[in-house]
Amino acid sequence: SIHMLMKTKRPHPPGPWSLPILGNLLQVEEHPYISFQRMRKKYGDVFQIKLGMVPVVVVNGLDAVKQVLLRDGESFAGRPDMHTFSFFADGDSMSFSVNYGESWKLQKKIAGRALKLLSKSEAKSSTCSCLLEEHVCDEASELVKILLELSKNGGFDPAAVTTCTAANVVCALCFGKRYNHNDEEFLGVIKLNDDFVKASSAFNPADFIPCLRYLPLPAAKVARTFYRKLNDFVSACVEYHCTTYDKNYVRDITDALINVGNEKKEDGKTAALSDKKIISTVNDIFGAGFSTVSACLLWIYLYLISKPEIQTKIQEEIDEKIGLRPPRFDDRKYLHYTEAFINEIFRHCSFLPFTIPHCTTRDAVLNGYYIPQSTCIFINMYQVNHDEDVWEDPYSFKPERFLNESGELNKSLVEKVLIFGMGIRKCLGEELARNEVFVIITTILQQLRLEKPPEDKLDLTPMYGLTMSPKPYRLQAALRT
Ligand code: HEM
Repeated sequence: SIHMLMKTKRPHPPGPWSLPILGNLLQVEEHPYISFQRMRKKYGDVFQIKLGMVPVVVVNGLDAVKQVLLRDGESFAGRPDMHTFSFFADGDSMSFSVNYGESWKLQKKIAGRALKLLSKSEAKSSTCSCLLEEHVCDEASELVKILLELSKNGGFDPAAVTTCTAANVVCALCFGKRYNHNDEEFLGVIKLNDDFVKASSAFNPADFIPCLRYLPLPAAKVARTFYRKLNDFVSACVEYHCTTYDKNYVRDITDALINVGNEKKEDGKTAALSDKKIISTVNDIFGAGFSTVSACLLWIYLYLISKPEIQTKIQEEIDEKIGLRPPRFDDRKYLHYTEAFINEIFRHCSFLPFTIPHCTTRDAVLNGYYIPQSTCIFINMYQVNHDEDVWEDPYSFKPERFLNESGELNKSLVEKVLIFGMGIRKCLGEELARNEVFVIITTILQQLRLEKPPEDKLDLTPMYGLTMSPKPYRLQAALRT
């Protein structure tokens, strides 16, 4: 059509010259978002590189990012065919599957509705607004006890206990039950996930140099093992749910998925997910829900012990607005400084520097450039969060930047922080993650003072990965007096 002709006549995005086979891999450093910063200066917000043999369009700047994720979202909502992702649920994965279309949309819609339904399910104890809040509050109090216990011998690495806490929240969410912090099966799954996250940095060479796929690379082996173990674990849980399901009492997301799928639509038809799809949806939520939250918490403790004056401010706000009762999701509305602090962590650390890679679902035009169907797209959230046109002094850590003169949260500035993505592919767990992180941090700081062991030096630079974690460090907790 004439429309198509106009699109294909446009130039491709500019970018550096590339080598055969390796493409620009040698020009991309250990922290790719930093190399991209340099390339953006030269080529502008939208440029193209080759990672190995695969052309990748990198999108920077809030305006171009909004074009891709919101205004022309449908054209950019696919997922590329990446080797690392291919182990997830052979095509049934909500997060990674390359099959973008009606069936995917239905799956995501049902998952979203299931999460909403769950946040309306009543708590067993009367002081919580819902079951989900109850789980988070229970885990938070448990964490306080463990942090105190571990501090008896001085400084300790908080990574393991924090991952267990975050995994327990998502376990309670998915299967209605928590595991003991030393349950073997549970620890096995967490350990595998950890290996997987480490092995699959966003730049797994096998994703970009197809012939490497046929080699027995360690990353591929780890991904395959992880996926199989997680799948076995989840399948067993889902099977149990199908036999004990009661439509009047939704225990968790598995029940909610069965329930929402069975709802009758106006035309009398149902839009149920197959058991296989339910398993893969639970898998996705389980996998997405804890390494992100635990990385976030580890960054938060690290910033709290390296900036004690900020910790004091948060504690003063908790004492004034909450007092001695346990913190709740709803308190987010009143604790403006704490909310500002958490958003500044999202922005400053940008511990998810890129979204999960996207892919064009049809030919598209972006900033005047032609981008053919099936092109891999990287959204540089790190850049958006450090853009000098948007943020004053972007490299300093200043929670106050989000507060207006009367000390209230500046909502329109908060919306410019990009860490959950936007639009069709947006994170399904944003609300939960924000609530969870808030309650865990306020519960800890209400009772404990976090400090660094006096002899330790802190390093705030990240280790690169799909999710970036801080380098290992130690902290020490003491009861507040
Ligand atoms: C996807 C961030 C926690 C469930 C994503 C994406 C990002 C993200 C950046 C990709 C968006 C894109 O590709 O454009 C985060 C952060 C979290 C967090 C920063 C914690 C601080 C959670 C939790 C859940 C969850 C707790 C569980 C309910 C998902 C799912 C997807 C996703 C299912 C896939 C959506 C899709 O492919 O359409 N998240 N997330 N996330 N997240 Fe989260």
